Amino acid sequence: MKHETIETNAGWLIGLTMVVISIGGLVEILPLYFINNTVEEVKVDGKETVRPYTALELRGRDIYQREGCYLCHSQMIRPFRDEALRYGHYSLAAESKYDHPFQWGSKRTGPDLARVGKKYSNQWHTQHLTAPRSVVPESIMPNYPWLAKTDLKYKDIEERFKALRNVGVPYSLTKPEYDANVTRFGKEVADQLDINRAEENLLTQAKLGNYDGNPDRLTEMDALVSYLQVLGTMVDFSKFEEGHFAEFR
Ligand code: HEC
Repeated sequence: MKHETIETNAGWLIGLTMVVISIGGLVEILPLYFINNTVEEVKVDGKETVRPYTALELRGRDIYQREGCYLCHSQMIRPFRDEALRYGHYSLAAESKYDHPFQWGSKRTGPDLARVGKKYSNQWHTQHLTAPRSVVPESIMPNYPWLAKTDLKYKDIEERFKALRNVGVPYSLTKPEYDANVTRFGKEVADQLDINRAEENLLTQAKLGNYDGNPDRLTEMDALVSYLQVLGTMVDFSKFEEGHFAEFR
């Protein structure tokens, strides 16, 4: 059949357009029926190592979104050799399963941040965020001098945890939920996911971590750096033999 016949006949055009769209739809929708196979199980000694964010990290993530860091930074390493050589192992679905919303992105004015955790010291991050050009002279990243000067608001942390719990993130409110988390993640992590202790945990982590180098004050910088330092660190790839996740490519 000539292309012209299709293009000049509304019936054919509608029919064939629908066929093409259906194929696209099937390709996108069908994998969702196998989502349990798509999201990997990452376990070490029977415990899941990918966990929801702690209270402080979550506030850091909120600031990351507020400041629009995602407009220049993606958080997904694609499974291509050049990406893996530059940034590390390609991102697993499991690594962002507690992210609401995802920060995958596609705009890379700056480098991908999916595995930036532990790459630099806290001091480097604080300095870099305050004045990027003082550590990377050719940088075009904006200065964020207010982060280290603004007190962190954290009084609503329990509400934030509860909101995420409503969409399926396993923060625990009741004793049975807490116990389930102990089995799943181990006690140390389960304690961090306990909504009733969220505020206390946030203050303790900030104090022990001293992320912005100023122990007298809890600032937005503390929260943001704690978030950056955990990115990409929840799967210890050295524990998995080479190619372990290849079936998910
Ligand atoms: C206008 C685009 C832009 C925005 C917005 C931006 N960045 Fe950047 N960022 C860059 C560029 C370009 C670099 C590479 C040069 C450098 O290291 O400063 C970079 C580098 C980084 C690095 C170092 C990455 C590495 O692996 O070396 C981190 C961490 C970072 N940015 C965090 C942030 C955070 C957090 C925010 C939001 C508060 C942010 N950026 C906002 C452009 C941006």
